[in-house]
Amino acid sequence: MNNTIHLLKNHRTTRHFVKGKTMSHEHLQNILEASIQAPTYMNGQHFSIIVVENQQTKEQLVEWTPRNPHIASSSVFLLFCMDFSHLQVASDYRQASFDVEDNPDVLMIGTVDVALAMQNAIIAAESLGYGTVCVGGVRHIANHIIKQFKLPKYVYPICGLSIGEIDTTQEVERVKPRLPKVFKETYTQPVKLEDVQGYDKTMRLFAEKRETKEWSQKFADFYEKRPNPKTTDWLKEQGF
Ligand SMILES: Cc1cc2nc3c(=O)[nH]c(=O)nc-3n(C[C@H](O)[C@H](O)[C@H](O)COP(=O)(O)O)c2cc1C
Repeated sequence: MNNTIHLLKNHRTTRHFVKGKTMSHEHLQNILEASIQAPTYMNGQHFSIIVVENQQTKEQLVEWTPRNPHIASSSVFLLFCMDFSHLQVASDYRQASFDVEDNPDVLMIGTVDVALAMQNAIIAAESLGYGTVCVGGVRHIANHIIKQFKLPKYVYPICGLSIGEIDTTQEVERVKPRLPKVFKETYTQPVKLEDVQGYDKTMRLFAEKRETKEWSQKFADFYEKRPNPKTTDWLKEQGF
């Protein structure tokens, strides 16, 4: 197994960082350059990254999303936004109408570009020995994020990324078991109840401290209600 595959197969989200550690300019630059070099749909580069090192800003973010205290102890917090603003300029320049409103395909284009750029940043950061946490919690506070970071029209926050020096005095994170979600040739093995019950058991034995519910209960509760209903309005305000 080569080093890259070893790194990927041993990924863990690490939420305990050594407080007050800054990241060297060289490391940050390498992470950002690795991130923006990710594949991107049609070379459209439908994303942007806001680099947050200011401690007050990080603490403000934790006030808005208290379940993510690692933002405050991170060395750097990257805010990944889907971003079509440069493409509106291109359309205006070419005197074409620009229509990205109310279109699931547009949202897929933007979120996939963001996800690939963010994953490149994660791999780069982990290869340098840092711990990382994706922060989907920013979607729940998108109204605050849009104001705080002055996001213009056609820009929308998708996910944050806390990157920090792993606090080795805390419990070492174990690699988390996954469901077998790979099929051969066609989708031949629809998930059965036993698979879900089996994964509940796997996760029960894995016994991650931060989990308060059984895995299936967590998702039953989550998808019983429409997740994050305000997103539709906030997206509209940003032109989507
Ligand atoms: C899109 C996305 C959003 C996430 N948001 C959060 C978050 O807001 N807070 C958090 O602590 N972890 C967050 N996570 C981390 C997941 O909880 C974690 O990846 C998952 O439990 C699997 O664990 P592992 O990464 O250690 O294998 C997020 C992960 C992804 C991919």
